[in-house]
Amino acid sequence: MGSLCSFLASFSLLIMVLSLAHGQPLVPALFLFGDSVVDAGNNNNVKTIIKANFPPYGRDFSNHKPTGRFCNGKLASDFTAENLGFTSYPPAYLSKEAAGKNLLIGANFASAGSGYYDSTAKLYHTISLNQQLENYKEYQNKVVGIAGKANLTSIISGAVYLVSAGSSDFVQNYYINPLLYKVYTANQFSDILIQSYAKFIQNLYVLGARKIGVTTLPPLGCLPAAITIFGADSNECLAKFNKDAVSFNNKLNATSQSLQKQLSGLTLVIFDIYQPLYNLVTKPAENGFFEARKACCGTGLVETSILCNAESIGTCANASEYVFWDSVHPSEAANKVLADDLLSSGISLIF
Ligand SMILES: *[C@@H]1O[C@H](CO)[C@@H](O)[C@H](O)[C@H]1NC(C)=O
Ligand SMILES: *[C@@H]1O[C@H](CO)[C@@H](O)[C@H](O)[C@H]1NC(C)=O
Ligand SMILES: *[C@@H]1O[C@H](CO)[C@@H](O)[C@H](O)[C@H]1NC(C)=O
Repeated sequence: MGSLCSFLASFSLLIMVLSLAHGQPLVPALFLFGDSVVDAGNNNNVKTIIKANFPPYGRDFSNHKPTGRFCNGKLASDFTAENLGFTSYPPAYLSKEAAGKNLLIGANFASAGSGYYDSTAKLYHTISLNQQLENYKEYQNKVVGIAGKANLTSIISGAVYLVSAGSSDFVQNYYINPLLYKVYTANQFSDILIQSYAKFIQNLYVLGARKIGVTTLPPLGCLPAAITIFGADSNECLAKFNKDAVSFNNKLNATSQSLQKQLSGLTLVIFDIYQPLYNLVTKPAENGFFEARKACCGTGLVETSILCNAESIGTCANASEYVFWDSVHPSEAANKVLADDLLSSGISLIF
């Protein structure tokens, strides 16, 4: 374990040295698809209640400004962009920054409250994954206009694509929607999501993606909102929700391995965020955290999105001591731990 850690430490050092030496990122561009785990502000421009473009969101981000990220600071994918050597983040595709040369380092198509299940996005009027793909097609046409067809081809084939979805399908849809949980078992619902996931990866591949990283579900049963709402006075992670997440993650893994075999030239990597987040939640002190049950914003028990706002009473002073920023989303400090963990599994995407 010790030698693995020091290997990873020297590997990330190597990455930094390489990218600093060349003064340019290790890959030409970074694209993001999915839900609030990676949304960097698209929902600011969408008529939905699932937003995070007001304080205290973003209070630890650069300029201390809310951006639409569901966090006090950076998302794990922001750290990943930095680790890849980018000096700015791929712009949220629906923002006004997403224009001209800014588009040449990639774009972020993610939308909080969307998922593999198309009706999750419909329920919250957010951008479905299918629509995110449509936006990516439009992006490609724009870049042909900006930099020409040959440059577009090298951007899209050399880029890293990050996909992070599924949490909203369970937390904001399946578990609270009798039209789903009375009709499908969690296992059946997982199968539906996985089918849609496979189709999404195939479509992304057809559009030119060759290096794709996909995050697993987090330990859903350890999210503060899940424990508060479904925990029946217990303070423990909900075993049932965690079991659902593990079962989904196993299917995700198996399906990804068969996709990688089917689609020649594709590198498809699973980024496990379940285990590192579970470790933080169950052993916070060992990892330098003080609180893992309650989130920083408000009471820390239920507040997310519009319920986590400048008037929320009780918001903590120092979010770095908390694993969760709001009742569903990790703090910047926890995101940093997750991103460091992804570095090791991401090696094959870079070289
Ligand atoms: C596109 O590629 C050509 C060379 O093939 C290069 O000269 C040009 O600067 C590129 N355009 C942009 C906007 O990067
Ligand atoms: C996926 O499955 C493979 C083999 O079955 C295993 O080695 C790997 O650790 C799994 N990955 C994750 C992230 O669970
Ligand atoms: C916030 O907490 C972190 C982690 O415990 C600590 O390193 C940092 O110094 C704290 N910051 C302030 C301003 O107290």
